[in-house]
Amino acid sequence: MKHPSVAIVRSDFHDRHSTSWGHVWLEYCVDADLPHSLIDWRGLGAFEALAKHDIVVWHYSHFSRDEMLFARSILVALKAVGCRVFPDVADSDHFDDKIAQSYLLKALGIAMPKDYPMHCRSAVDEWIRDVGEFPVVAKLRTGSGASNVRLITSADELRHYAKRMFGRGFSGKPDTVFKIKSNVASARSLKDIVKRLKRAPEFFFSLRNARGLPRERGYVYLQEFMPGLDYDLKVVVVGDQLSFIGRSVRAGDFRASGGGGLFYERTLIDQTIIDSAFQAADTLRSDCTGFDMIKDPRNGQPVILEVSYGFSHTALLGSGGHFDREGNWHDTPLNAPRALLDRLVKEVTGQ
Ligand SMILES: Nc1ncnc2c1ncn2[C@@H]1O[C@H](COP(=O)(O)OP(=O)(O)O)[C@@H](O)[C@H]1O
Ligand SMILES: [Mg+2]
Repeated sequence: MKHPSVAIVRSDFHDRHSTSWGHVWLEYCVDADLPHSLIDWRGLGAFEALAKHDIVVWHYSHFSRDEMLFARSILVALKAVGCRVFPDVADSDHFDDKIAQSYLLKALGIAMPKDYPMHCRSAVDEWIRDVGEFPVVAKLRTGSGASNVRLITSADELRHYAKRMFGRGFSGKPDTVFKIKSNVASARSLKDIVKRLKRAPEFFFSLRNARGLPRERGYVYLQEFMPGLDYDLKVVVVGDQLSFIGRSVRAGDFRASGGGGLFYERTLIDQTIIDSAFQAADTLRSDCTGFDMIKDPRNGQPVILEVSYGFSHTALLGSGGHFDREGNWHDTPLNAPRALLDRLVKEVTGQ
């Protein structure tokens, strides 16, 4: 097959958010002269229209309740029809679900902080009795930008938190005040503030969508606290290419993601990070994903905090290049959605 046809699913965030990948895919198809269609997944007959294509790509958002409810199963069915899909289950099964990631990464032997998914209050009581190491990080399964990640400092606070998690739970939507505070605190110049203000409608669009997300309840998810870190890394792997974004921890806080303090210090990406990111991507059989990585301050070993293809491809371009598996730097930025689609096209055409 020389010219596979590509269906780009018009996601709920298409035209509404700069982190959406649909436009990059459309551009790629035009550049590569591939037959393609942009298909609204909500339309009547959308499945049949999608199924006519060799490749189907859908950058669905964790802020869209409806996409989170339906996208995965639609893609699984399209795969059954014979389409090559992205995200395939290797990338979608655990998307925006830190507990699913916990079970899977542990099962596959991928290094992450010691953690404890717990599914009843007595398990939490047992944890307090048998482990009881504070402070400890508590996370909701869902969410981004560190909105749903907190530090718990005592057994009493954890009991209180567990009571709420096994009761009415917490809203999974992003915390507006936290988001605004993070953005203001990390702005470096007036130009920066203006740039961020221009993106405010995107945030409010995400927030409106996130209102429909279910409340998070019925579990407690704890992770050992890694102290003394002043940044984390978003490390993205597509095939044989790897690129990164450095993210400073917020002042007076332990959380980096969503803080807005981005930097691109290439020397932080040493061969141990490169090896473990490629190894994790290969083990997961991922087509394209971002790992939130830190180095365990006790032994310098890289660990993965989170796995998600829902990162900002534009922020990734800021690193100005990418690494290969051997750790060589290349000055071509990694445009993740483009590289991913290129990879799928090569796969289905047998190149
Ligand atoms: N176990 C941990 N120890 C220390 N810091 C952590 C730990 N887990 C997360 N963090 C910090 O909190 C931030 C948010 O955590 P993460 O699990 O990536 O959630 P989110 O989905 O909101 O990005 C990370 O960017 C990191 O700086
Ligand atoms: Mg994260």
